[in-house]
Amino acid sequence: MSGLVGYIGERNAKETILEGLKKLEYQGDSSGIAILGNGVAVYKEKGKIQDLEQSIQAEKLTGTAGIGHTRWATRGKPNRMNAHPHQSRSGRFVLVHNGMVQNDAELKKKYLPEVKLMSETDTEVIVQLVEYFQHQGMDVEKAFRRVLNELQGTFSLVLVDAQDPDTLYAAKNKSPLVLGIGHGHENMVASNTMAMIHVTNQFKDLRDKEYVILSRDAVEIKDFKGQKIDRQTYTVNWDASSTDKGNYEHFMLKEIDQQPTVLRNIIKEYRNKDGQLRAGDHLDHMHIPKRIYIVACGTSYHAGLAGKRLLEQVARIPTEVHIASEFLYGQPLIEADSLFVFISQSGETADSVGVFNNMKQLGHPTLAVTNVEGSTLYREADYTLLTHAGPEMAGASTKAYTAQVAVMAILSTYLAERQSLQTGLDVFYELQKVSRAMETLQGLKDQAKQIAHQFLKGGKSCFFIGRQLDHTVCLEGALKLKESSYIQAEGYAAGEFKHGPIALIEEGTPVFVLITDESTASIMRNNIQELDSRGANICVLAAEGISEPGDAWVLPKVHPLLTPLVTVIPLQLIAYYAALALGREVDKPRHLTKSVTME
Ligand code: AGP
Repeated sequence: MSGLVGYIGERNAKETILEGLKKLEYQGDSSGIAILGNGVAVYKEKGKIQDLEQSIQAEKLTGTAGIGHTRWATRGKPNRMNAHPHQSRSGRFVLVHNGMVQNDAELKKKYLPEVKLMSETDTEVIVQLVEYFQHQGMDVEKAFRRVLNELQGTFSLVLVDAQDPDTLYAAKNKSPLVLGIGHGHENMVASNTMAMIHVTNQFKDLRDKEYVILSRDAVEIKDFKGQKIDRQTYTVNWDASSTDKGNYEHFMLKEIDQQPTVLRNIIKEYRNKDGQLRAGDHLDHMHIPKRIYIVACGTSYHAGLAGKRLLEQVARIPTEVHIASEFLYGQPLIEADSLFVFISQSGETADSVGVFNNMKQLGHPTLAVTNVEGSTLYREADYTLLTHAGPEMAGASTKAYTAQVAVMAILSTYLAERQSLQTGLDVFYELQKVSRAMETLQGLKDQAKQIAHQFLKGGKSCFFIGRQLDHTVCLEGALKLKESSYIQAEGYAAGEFKHGPIALIEEGTPVFVLITDESTASIMRNNIQELDSRGANICVLAAEGISEPGDAWVLPKVHPLLTPLVTVIPLQLIAYYAALALGREVDKPRHLTKSVTME
């Protein structure tokens, strides 16, 4: 989705805002910036943020307050006219916006019948309305608040007034927005903390239907009625370098390599000094449910599938896993005594938050497994377990997936201990073993590159097949390949392949086969024979002890319930090298955004 940044302080606003826009996960199809000084200077460009940077390179912009935006087009083509910021008719008010207003046409008809809009966006109606109400005699804050109360739909927005270079106005309703609290004479607001980490690691969250007035030395939060609100400041222990590529060409490879360290972080965070599991004091009051529902999207959904196996085998609690957007419109029968677990790297995914709000309304307890402190799910769930993976910048999620599965293992162990069950999983020992296994796999990048070139250089559509937990990793491997290299790929249960998809096998069709479970190894070898005899180009990744000569990759053996943490690594690397070979924009795949904050 779109991203926005506002800054007011003593630094050069243009540099500070552009730095923030670049950190936002998705670089949109157009972007823009407005800098306050004597009046306001507005620049907008189609294309990437670098295009905007290029176009304003020669501009002497010394202002120390302003706003910026990177647009993921929803309404109106991606061009300069529709790019944000948008200005009121007189040019006095300038605004950036993320989200979608539902009643912009009605508001235009009611209040601005004679105003000729310059763009096709809902955003322009918002800023024209501010000027309209200000012309009715309201001061800027009152005019801003009046507009907020007129809007229906989702919005996070930041407004500046050309006649007041010392104030930013920002507001939030069902679209992410966070306040950055500077260490002295500066404050920020942005779509997420990563866009501000180069200025501060102190933040305040904004809740729906709240707005804030920012000056260099104060931030004043109010509700849409104008009532002041006090809000705690919190610290995010990420440093600016964690949002840089360092020596890596791409974030995706850096984050694949970070996974062993992330697992060790998780062990450190969830083990107390006596080596006991510490899942967070507040969890100790959590009721042990009869049933667990895991709700998530994309990669996080795949982590949920692995989590289901852990919760059922270790904690003996029946568990269902649901795609959030399906659950949202087709709620299944729900066991009364249940716990809802929301797995979400960003903690802002609209589909997941939508289900979350519904379940909270029904009174079901909620637990968030998320990577972003201060995110909606982190703030509003009854219980939270952070994945401590550090900022994930690449569009394709890698370390967040393995961190989520690891935290699901921690949760399962915690629930088992609460029921005095024998877990059969020494979770810290096994995760330690997995982190070492991951490290050996990362030493095999050349092998992954060779496989990517051998099996995928033609860009032919391909399959990933496996059984049980291997099947869940096949789904994730296929998603990684699709979203990184744009090669059509499908993860499939190996046993299901003969029930139709086998008809798609032609001479040379690439099929990746995962085998880690001894009990299904021989049947998997039969499946391989069936495919081989039909011309498939087979790439077998098998666990040591059940691998055979000719297999492309021998995987280190780890606890059966944690195999996804190991089998996913080669698939992540193969996706990365396939994308590289095809010249894709690895970290910013086309059409993708890092947190899908709209349904
Ligand atoms: C991951 O590679 C994808 N980019 C995407 O499927 C992602 O997992 C999904 O949008 C869910 O995001 P969340 O974990 O932030 O909720």
